[in-house]
Amino acid sequence: MFSTPFVLTFSLLLSLPILFFLAPRILPPHPNPIPISPTDELDDINLFNKAISHSFTPPSSSSHPSKFFHLSSQNPNLKIAFLFLTNTNLHFAPLWNLFFHDTPTKLFNIYVHSDPSTNITRPNNPNFKFIPSKKTYRASPTLISATRRLLANALLDDPSNAYFIVLSQYCIPLHSFSYTYRSLFLSPTFDLTDSESTQFGVRLKYKSFVEIISNAPKLWKRYIARGRYAMMPEIPFDKFRVGSQFFTLTRKHALVVVKDRMFWRKFKVPCYRDDECYPEEHYFPTLLSMADPDGVTSYTLTRVNWTGTVNGHPYTYRPDEVSRELILRLRESNHSESYLFARKFVPDCLEPLMHIAKSVIFKD
Ligand SMILES: *[C@@H]1O[C@H](CO)[C@@H](O)[C@H](O)[C@H]1NC(C)=O
Ligand SMILES: *[C@@H]1O[C@H](CO)[C@@H](O)[C@H](O)[C@H]1NC(C)=O
Ligand SMILES: *[C@@H]1O[C@H](CO)[C@@H](O)[C@H](O)[C@H]1NC(C)=O
Repeated sequence: MFSTPFVLTFSLLLSLPILFFLAPRILPPHPNPIPISPTDELDDINLFNKAISHSFTPPSSSSHPSKFFHLSSQNPNLKIAFLFLTNTNLHFAPLWNLFFHDTPTKLFNIYVHSDPSTNITRPNNPNFKFIPSKKTYRASPTLISATRRLLANALLDDPSNAYFIVLSQYCIPLHSFSYTYRSLFLSPTFDLTDSESTQFGVRLKYKSFVEIISNAPKLWKRYIARGRYAMMPEIPFDKFRVGSQFFTLTRKHALVVVKDRMFWRKFKVPCYRDDECYPEEHYFPTLLSMADPDGVTSYTLTRVNWTGTVNGHPYTYRPDEVSRELILRLRESNHSESYLFARKFVPDCLEPLMHIAKSVIFKD
């Protein structure tokens, strides 16, 4: 007979590798994940379902799957929805007011998702519509939910919203509204990477501008951040992408995002490590590149400077750096005729930016 201590020791030893193997599945992810409450999740599902069923659905035509509406570029009813995702005051609201100044409201809508736990001064402009919002946390799935809430509200609110631009409180415009509008809806030459969307000087196809990168150095670590097989089988590693959460979507793709259930189920799972998570940088590029690879440009229209990045934050411009030359430099793009927006700027940049607004930024 084996003695009891021996059996105990033996089974303890045996259980060690098993524990080691199962640990990631049993132990709660670390550190400190912020779960999304079932109530919040239910609120979102109800909102998304409403947006899907009430929203103007483009007539589908199998021969032209990428034409998201049968409206020609001459149609005066196409609007841009500007979607601000913020957890502070909209520092550059006066600059944006100037951007929208004199623009007929039949060409745009503005929606704001602002973290309800912070005390935000609302811009003195009734065009900024604050949508029902929930708390957000950096590098967490709450940022995906907030963006989807913005898209769903904009889809529901106005069937004329045709492009959806996600911005933060640190974003600034680099051109006038009319330049921005022309670039998105009319210009046959704006997108330098695609000549097929244009024929005889006419835009045939509208694409989403989403950064989609497949060869980033930390991609594998980010892929397995929730467990080695957490993304499988639907999202194999070779389909996993990274990109900026500040993008410009067509209405068709805004609906794709709001309709999604499968990708969300994967990306809402907390990571084991905070520093390799950033679900908001993966969810949208992965979903859209898998759903409609030919309908997205793979680059963003929002310029950001990653040189000398600190703690996952991009370079942030200071007031003494704001100049005509900076604006011209930030516009330069290898992919399109120009970047349309830029980030990040410290709030104190407002004054120097206002100073060159009319003479430089909006002068086109
Ligand atoms: C929010 O801001 C208002 C006006 O600036 C101020 O009176 C109020 O005390 C603030 N509340 C909190 C919780 O900070
Ligand atoms: C990007 O940031 C670096 C500092 O990290 C700065 O030297 C450089 O001029 C910036 N680039 C642009 C285009 O502003
Ligand atoms: C454009 O491409 C060149 C060559 O790859 C690169 O040096 C430059 O930084 C790029 N410019 C921008 C604005 O990304």
